[in-house]
Amino acid sequence: MTKKILILPGDGIGQEIVAEAVKVLNALKSGHGLDVELIEGLVGGAAYDETGSPLPEETLEKARACDAVLLGAVGGYKWESLDISVRPEKGLLGLRKELGLFANLRPAILYPQLAEASTLKADVVSGLDLMIVRELTGGIYFGQPRGVRTLDSGERQGYNTLVYRESEVDRIVRVAMDIAMKRGRRVCSVDKANVLECTEMWREVAAKVGADYPEVELSHLYVDNAAMQLVRAPKQFDVMVTTNMFGDILSDCAAMLTGSIGMLPSASLDENGKGMYEPIHGSAPDIAGQNVANPLATILSVAMMLRYSLNDEANAERIEAAVQKVLDQGLRTADIAGGGPSVGTAEMGDAVVNAIG
Ligand code: IPM
Ligand code: MG
Repeated sequence: MTKKILILPGDGIGQEIVAEAVKVLNALKSGHGLDVELIEGLVGGAAYDETGSPLPEETLEKARACDAVLLGAVGGYKWESLDISVRPEKGLLGLRKELGLFANLRPAILYPQLAEASTLKADVVSGLDLMIVRELTGGIYFGQPRGVRTLDSGERQGYNTLVYRESEVDRIVRVAMDIAMKRGRRVCSVDKANVLECTEMWREVAAKVGADYPEVELSHLYVDNAAMQLVRAPKQFDVMVTTNMFGDILSDCAAMLTGSIGMLPSASLDENGKGMYEPIHGSAPDIAGQNVANPLATILSVAMMLRYSLNDEANAERIEAAVQKVLDQGLRTADIAGGGPSVGTAEMGDAVVNAIG
């Protein structure tokens, strides 16, 4: 049966990189039996400009009706002064929340071809293969109450709320455990249990879930130490599981271990494996429209989509092999070229399509 994929380029470089990912999808359609229909939609600033909302109802309906969503990026200078309730980021957060995409998988893999692109010493990062599992629909990103209030003194006070229910912790830790079972069987749960009650409870629930997985070695780290360990000795980690905000921060950090944030894909899954797929980088308005952005994170996100939501492992591997091949051929976008010769966004996408054959 034909699977439906909603394509949401969004803003900034989102437009260019998603165009390359679509080329890859079309190549698999015409040459490798991929049976998909691509549907377009608006999100983020692009949606705001056209409809007044960063997440129009029409987009949400399309997303609900599709088997998977491919998203580029949202945000840009142009919309920074808007009220927070209609900023492009709200479109992304709304999609995650409304679709119940609580499990965010952010793999950080160092391609051997790019060992020199990392700012860390090659021996610290070579062979790195880490999976960060970030809780995506709870925590301080969504907790109520939130806002900015004016105190009696006339001074303004900003406030946000970190909240987790036991069931929310339980299900995300289970996702991490299940993934670890298929990998190195080690999970590190990251919290700030020494200061924040909410994450003290997180640690207790994680330990309880861990007891159901005797074959998985579960450890716990405070987030500050985890950040330090990530840059000191990242290969000690197999799977890390953490809250929405800590996961946001640690995954950017992990991305740089691999040389460029332009290489890392992600999957955001609901209870049934339906998902949204996006590069972990943002809309990079500073380089938008210049044909210099790296499309590989988005192309690799398509591979994750085929694997997790479309159950097409063969084509997922085909994409990953093609990316390896173009790296072997020495093709580099500027972010991974280390100052050497580079190719543009479209050339990189074309090269991947050629490598798929
Ligand atoms: C990410 C991004 C988003 C987040 C922003 C754009 C809202 O940084 O996906 O990591 O904070 O989750
Ligand atoms: Mg982020």
